[in-house]
Amino acid sequence: MKVLHVVGARPNFMKVAPVLNALKSRKHVVQTLVHTGQHYDANMSEVFFEQLCIPAPDVSLSVGSGTHARQTAEIMTRFEPVVLERRPDIVLVYGDVNSTVAAALVCAKLGIRVGHVEAGLRSFDRSMPEEINRLVTDQLADALYTPSEDGDRNLQREGIAPEKIFRVGNVMIDSLVRLLPLAQRQNKNSLPERYALVTLHRPANVDDGAALKSILQSLFEVNRDLSVIFPAHPRTRQRISDFGLNAGQLRLVDPLPYIDFLGLQSRAAVVITDSGGIQEETTYLGIPCLTLRENTERPVTVSLGTNVLVGRDPDKLRSELLLVLAGKAKKGTVPPLWDGHAGERIASLLAD
Ligand code: UD1
Repeated sequence: MKVLHVVGARPNFMKVAPVLNALKSRKHVVQTLVHTGQHYDANMSEVFFEQLCIPAPDVSLSVGSGTHARQTAEIMTRFEPVVLERRPDIVLVYGDVNSTVAAALVCAKLGIRVGHVEAGLRSFDRSMPEEINRLVTDQLADALYTPSEDGDRNLQREGIAPEKIFRVGNVMIDSLVRLLPLAQRQNKNSLPERYALVTLHRPANVDDGAALKSILQSLFEVNRDLSVIFPAHPRTRQRISDFGLNAGQLRLVDPLPYIDFLGLQSRAAVVITDSGGIQEETTYLGIPCLTLRENTERPVTVSLGTNVLVGRDPDKLRSELLLVLAGKAKKGTVPPLWDGHAGERIASLLAD
């Protein structure tokens, strides 16, 4: 059985690692790993391969950055010959990035089966590029592996046949469970006693100068009570400079490797973010998470976990932060099947 995995951007890497690993023990499975090169900086890609023990890609498409149309088209053009040559029995795509939808489209047209890992998530906000990627990928996929019950419901409502839907749990949490002990042993000497960990990269927050300025001002306020540590995505750093803003006293650092970032999350007083995956990781860790978005495609992090949507409302951010400082932040529980074995469940469904 030939399984071909496609990854391209940072949030894909912690999802593919457990599936690759679980399939390794199935002797009749031959795996191929394709990296589209959507993310290419060493600290956005290579270091994740090293820390997550992902083997070097068999094929690198080296597409790099571009507009959505250009990047998606480039991935499709370069990926098609790879599929034609390797003729996999199934192609697994991960999450909701441009590489995900591009690979799914190529396979659907060639009649190659597609499995979507992390299927069914919906923010119901089509202004997010990822929402478009999720909708299209799920329509094209033959096997849909969901992390939570809301995923199954969304897919059924969109007319996906129930026999194609498999609730396997959260593969990203598999990587977290495996590497948390290592992350917690990391040297914490250089860290402040209490700190807020911040990430920000959504176009809606960083591509609009006024929005970005207002968020930075809120973060300056947070920084009065808690040191702000802010590993900045290359796009965010670029925008801060494009708009002539400055990060003042915030500790702006380069994007961090997986284990280092996980260690920081696990010790943070609060995490402030617009990332999808970090909403899930903080829920697992029981760390308060204030999300700078009006909606989330991961509603269990709000209904069961520690996540609070504060949107772009500085007053809401302030009041939630006061709760954190007073030790009264929302408590949560870990959603079902976020147990470190999702990759194993996918491998069983595929190969056994
Ligand atoms: C992509 C995903 C997003 C995910 C995020 C995680 C899509 C539509 N978006 O967004 O869902 O949450 O990755 O990081 O697929 N850049 C670099 N070095 C890199 C990669 C990017 O400098 O290695 C810069 C480039 O200027 C590029 C910009 O970041 O134009 C945006 O990169 P891109 O891959 O288009 O989108 P992300 O914002 O990273």
